[in-house]
Amino acid sequence: MKRMQMFGLLSKDMDRIEQELYRIVEGGDDLLTETSLHLLKAGGKRLRPVFVLMGGKFGQYDLEKLKRVAIPLELIHSASLVHDDVIDDAELRRGEPTVKAKWDDKIAMYTGDYIYAKALVMIAELENPRIHQILSKAMVEMSIGEMEQIRDFFNSEQSVRHYLRRIRRKTALLIAISCQLGALAADAPAETARLLYNYGYNVGMAFQIRDDLLDLSGTEKQIGKPPGSDMRQGNITLPVIYSLEDERLRARLLEELARVREGASDGARAVDLILSGDGIARAEALSTRYIDKALHALEQLPHNRMKRNLREIAFFVTGRAY
Ligand code: IPE
Ligand code: IPE
Ligand code: MG
Ligand code: MG
Ligand code: MG
Repeated sequence: MKRMQMFGLLSKDMDRIEQELYRIVEGGDDLLTETSLHLLKAGGKRLRPVFVLMGGKFGQYDLEKLKRVAIPLELIHSASLVHDDVIDDAELRRGEPTVKAKWDDKIAMYTGDYIYAKALVMIAELENPRIHQILSKAMVEMSIGEMEQIRDFFNSEQSVRHYLRRIRRKTALLIAISCQLGALAADAPAETARLLYNYGYNVGMAFQIRDDLLDLSGTEKQIGKPPGSDMRQGNITLPVIYSLEDERLRARLLEELARVREGASDGARAVDLILSGDGIARAEALSTRYIDKALHALEQLPHNRMKRNLREIAFFVTGRAY
């Protein structure tokens, strides 16, 4: 889906947000401005801000108010990516070198901090304390999710429940609150904000499952970075957990995972084993179930032109034909 298509009626407002995103990281320190702009200008779907604006359409839409939520959400997301690439030792993001690759880990850590802090500067302009609480709580949960992931590297005993709890924290919550906060900032009814949260939560779960699937079965061109990085790192994602449940694969897969852990394998054979079973299909099916839940929440929302766009984004996320 093209960017313009996804933004639909919001293209002009999203252009404003884009310009402000660049502006807010400028000034102060030249290097921090350069490193921040490097990531921001490399692209990105801008899903979180577009969800804020869409949520805002369910209340009294006021771009001036909504952008104070939309921009910090994209900044929080961006900062988490800069840090994520240090933790994941990633060389490429959005088809460009990561900050940690182009500069180094130290510069990337401060770039992430700087972008987080810029988000806080803008959030501080908001009056509604509830918005502050929701945002800060989500940031806490994101850190816990990433920490759980580190703790669970190469843990082949982890359950699907474990995995789902982790991706809820690291990814789904931020998407859920993007939808919810748009509604809250536009003074939409509480029930509308709740349904939007629900929609975003389920889209977010499907989204991370899809991201994890693409890391195993996607191409570099498709995902803007080399596939297989989760495996090399020991990040046991949903298709891996399902494959470990398969008696025909379990022993060989455990052996391969041990070899990856020792640095004796780059994980390619483990990926091949997973692709030979039904772990991918089972993960796809679960992602589809989350999308169905998101669509169900959407159906209960009051009639609004944005519902069509939200529906399209839900399909886009799973890569399902529509
Ligand atoms: C990437 O998020 C990290 C995950 C939560 C999977 P996005 O896919 O939204 O990243 P950009 O902003 O479009 O690059
Ligand atoms: C999502 O996880 C990252 C955050 C929520 C910060 P990944 O580590 O899978 O994201 P990508 O694949 O690098 O974009
Ligand atoms: Mg990561
Ligand atoms: Mg990563
Ligand atoms: Mg990933």
